[in-house]
Amino acid sequence: MTRRALIAGNWKMNMLRAEGEALAAALASGLKPGMAADLLVCPPATLLAPVSAVLAGSAVALGAQDCHMRDSGAHTGDIAAVMLKDLGAAYVIVGHSERRADHGEDDATVKAKAGAALAAGLTPIICVGETEAQRDSGEAEKIVGGQILGSVPDGASQSGIVIAYEPVWAIGTGRTPTVDDIAAMHAHMRHVAGRMLDGAGALRLLYGGSVKPGNAAEILALEDVDGALVGGASLKAEDFLAIAAAVA
Ligand code: PGA
Repeated sequence: MTRRALIAGNWKMNMLRAEGEALAAALASGLKPGMAADLLVCPPATLLAPVSAVLAGSAVALGAQDCHMRDSGAHTGDIAAVMLKDLGAAYVIVGHSERRADHGEDDATVKAKAGAALAAGLTPIICVGETEAQRDSGEAEKIVGGQILGSVPDGASQSGIVIAYEPVWAIGTGRTPTVDDIAAMHAHMRHVAGRMLDGAGALRLLYGGSVKPGNAAEILALEDVDGALVGGASLKAEDFLAIAAAVA
């Protein structure tokens, strides 16, 4: 089963309009025909419309960093998945560890958001990952398996969702698990997800946490790693394109 790689940039709470438009334009023009990966950028909500306009007609896809679980209603400050779809988004990140930590999102919330994304015609990128204490106590696989079981919506298909493994302790720290640890976790994730999705040969599994041009090739070469979710290094076109180019 060949799975097309996805290199996703999570801009987090960074970039004002001029910078975001310039970055999107640099990615659109830097994308080489015949590249082995799909490229996706997830700007902050304020930049979805201007970045969508810059990316129109390019092969770089647009995604959001979060969505609400309902389609409309009295939810001040929130954004519905159908609204993101309406703006031209194709993907939405749900359950990022920063949302789980800063906004108290649990697996049930993440599952509802991912379900709303699917219903709106978006591909949810469902994030999972253990803390350092959980890894140190040997619980990483149990925690990540539990998050998958709790966060993947009912009725999801293998090709309709993406799951990103982001160890909390590797995000923004410059530290990454060993390639053996990433390989073992991704094999475990495919096994767990396969039980829910009736197989997982077509499911894309991303690795995220301190991915850079210097470590991308060895991580992306792993059999069960189908791309990367990139934070810091996605803010520079040169670095993000170098990561995408590392996909063999
Ligand atoms: P990082 O962030 O690449 O800056 O570690 C990854 C993420 O949080 O998605």
